[in-house]
Amino acid sequence: MTTGSAVRRLSAWDAERLRGLAEEYETPLYVYDLERVRDNAARLQSAFDEEEISYAIKANTTRPVLSTIEATGVGAECASAGEVERALAAGFDGADVRYTAVNPPARDLDYVVDTAADEDLIVTVGAADTLDQLAERGFSGRLCIRANPGVGAGHHEKVSTGAAPKFGVPLDRVPDLAAEAVDRGFDLVGLHAHAGSGISGGDLEAHRELVARMGELSRTVIADVGNIEFVNVGGGLGVPYREDQAPLDLDAVAAATRDAFGDVDARLGIEPGRYFVADAGVLLTRVNTVKPTPETTVVGVDAGMTTLVRPAMYDSYHAIRSLAADARTREPVSATVAGPICETADVLGEDRSLPDPERDDLLVVGNAGAYGYEMSSNYNSRPRPAAVALEGDEARLAVRREAVADITGLETWSE
Ligand code: LLP
Repeated sequence: MTTGSAVRRLSAWDAERLRGLAEEYETPLYVYDLERVRDNAARLQSAFDEEEISYAIKANTTRPVLSTIEATGVGAECASAGEVERALAAGFDGADVRYTAVNPPARDLDYVVDTAADEDLIVTVGAADTLDQLAERGFSGRLCIRANPGVGAGHHEKVSTGAAPKFGVPLDRVPDLAAEAVDRGFDLVGLHAHAGSGISGGDLEAHRELVARMGELSRTVIADVGNIEFVNVGGGLGVPYREDQAPLDLDAVAAATRDAFGDVDARLGIEPGRYFVADAGVLLTRVNTVKPTPETTVVGVDAGMTTLVRPAMYDSYHAIRSLAADARTREPVSATVAGPICETADVLGEDRSLPDPERDDLLVVGNAGAYGYEMSSNYNSRPRPAAVALEGDEARLAVRREAVADITGLETWSE
C-alpha cells in the first residue's frame, strides 16, 4: 500500500486539470482527491498500527469521502444524529460508529437510542444529565463516558476543547459516574477525551499530558468497575497550512501517545478528522474584481466566508495560488483576496504575493478539504458551492451547486 508523502502542498495540484474542472463545474468549487484521502488514511494506519482509529466525520461528510474512508476499515466518530445517519448510509458498520453527545437535543437522543437498538452504536456522554436521559429512553446500547481532562490544545482558542467546561465530565468525577452507570445496568465499554483541534509543535506536550491523565483514569476505572473495551484520546492531529511548515512526524506522535498511555488493559484509540482530508481538498474561486488601493491590491473573488469560514472565524491561513496560464510571466503584487460578502471579516488571505491579478483569473485555495464545505452557509443569500470528487483521471460531481431557490424553497410564508 502506498502511503504517499507526509504533506501535499498546493503547488502539487495540476493547474491544467483544475482549470478544466472550473470550466466544467464553475466556481466556487470544492475539489476532493480520493486517492490522497486514502494516502492519509494509510499513513495514519501505518503509524498507529496497534491503535483503533476512527474518522471524526465532521471534517468532511461528502459521500465519496465517507465511503473512501469507510473502505480503509476505520470507524466513525459522529457529532450529531445527522452525522450518524450519514455514516451509516455511507456503509460504516453500526458497531464502529460512536455518537459523541454534546448537550444533545432530544431529537438526537431519540434517533440514536432507536438506532442503537438495531445497530449496536456506541453513545458517548459528557454529562450525568445525558446518562439520565438515555436511561429515560431505555437505552440498551454500548456506553462511553467523556472526561474533561483539564488540559486543552489547538491552533486557536476557539478550538481548544480539553479544559472547556462545556465538554466532558470533570476527570475526578468520572470514576463515580462510571460506577453509577454500571450499577444502573449500562454496558460501559469506553472512556473518551479530546484536547482540541490542530495540534502540532508545542501543543504536543498538552496532548501527551491528556493521554497520561486518561491512562491513569482508565486504570482507576478498570480497578473499580471491571473491564472496558477502549480508551479514546480524541483527534486533533495538525496539518501544515503554511507552505514552509513541516508536517507532523506521525510515528513520533504515535510512540509518544503509547508511551504516555502506559499499561492499560483496554484498546487505545484516536479519532482524527482534519488529518484524513485537509490536504486532499482545494477550493477553486474566480477573480471578479481587481482594485488597486494605496494599501494593497484588492482581489475580489466569488468565494468568501460563506464558502470557507476558517480565515474569518479563526484567522486561519490558507495558501492561495494563481492558476492563470501565463502566471509566470506576470509581476508579483501584494494582494488581499476578499470575498463577495458584506462583512469586513470576509477575507480569504492578506498580504499575499500573487502574479498581477486580472479579472477572470482562477485562484486555488489550499487545505480546504477539512471544515470547508462543512462550515459553509447561506449568509447574504449565497447558495453553497458544488463539490467534485476525483478518482484517478475521473471527476464526478459529489454535491451539486445550490440555487437561490433551494434557500427560498424552505420558506413557508408567501404574500
Ligand atoms: N473528536 C472530537 C470529540 C472533536 O470534537 C473533534 C473536532 C475531533 C475529534 C476532530 O478534530 P480534528 O482531528 O479534525 O482536529 N472547525 C475547526 C475545528 C473544530 C473541530 C471540532 N472538533 C477548524 O476548522 O479548525
